Amino acid sequence: MSNCKVIALTNQKGGVGKTTTAVNLGVALAQQGKKVLLIDADAQANLTMSLGYSRPDDLPDTLSTIMRDIIDDKPVDVFKSILHHDEGVDLLPSNIELSGLEVRLINAISRESVLKTCINEVKKNYDTVLVDCMPSLGMLTINALAAADSVVIPTQPHYLSAKGLEL
Ligand SMILES: Nc1ncnc2c1ncn2[C@@H]1O[C@H](COP(=O)(O)OP(=O)(O)OP(=O)(O)O)[C@@H](O)[C@H]1O
Ligand SMILES: [Mg+2]
Repeated sequence: MSNCKVIALTNQKGGVGKTTTAVNLGVALAQQGKKVLLIDADAQANLTMSLGYSRPDDLPDTLSTIMRDIIDDKPVDVFKSILHHDEGVDLLPSNIELSGLEVRLINAISRESVLKTCINEVKKNYDTVLVDCMPSLGMLTINALAAADSVVIPTQPHYLSAKGLEL
């Protein structure tokens, strides 16, 4: 059995440090010798851009292409979409296509476990998988929570940010 830990970084509130935590926690774990996969589960593609891929919409293979193939019951090669970064972390990138994919998820079979199916394909190769969520409680965040062993909820010490934590 895989010892890989899947951790979702989530908060309904935006701008609280989810992506920043994903990048820094991921690189720190890699520096300690862990095999880390970062998954960008936000159509804003901030995690993808933070790692230097400044034009995510030009990437041919992303999280949305994999999730689309899983929904369509096609064979998937998750490794084909994974980028290897100089900082020692791997990245499953995203781009704006993830917005359309989230709409398709609503009518998909097993709609909450599509990301889990994707992660299960590759988790044997990693010690830690960090999933950077978008600031919403939509289907993609539900997919991240369904795939996760644990959740990190970055929060600012502000009233509205703490409200997001409650949600
Ligand atoms: N620990 C921190 N201290 C100070 N500033 C921070 C910290 N973490 C993140 N920031 C800054 O806060 C801003 C928002 O961070 P980030 O993009 O990581 O938030 P997010 O929760 O991922 O946002 P979104 O909800 O849009 O995805 C950025 O400008 C980032 O540099
Ligand atoms: Mg973010």
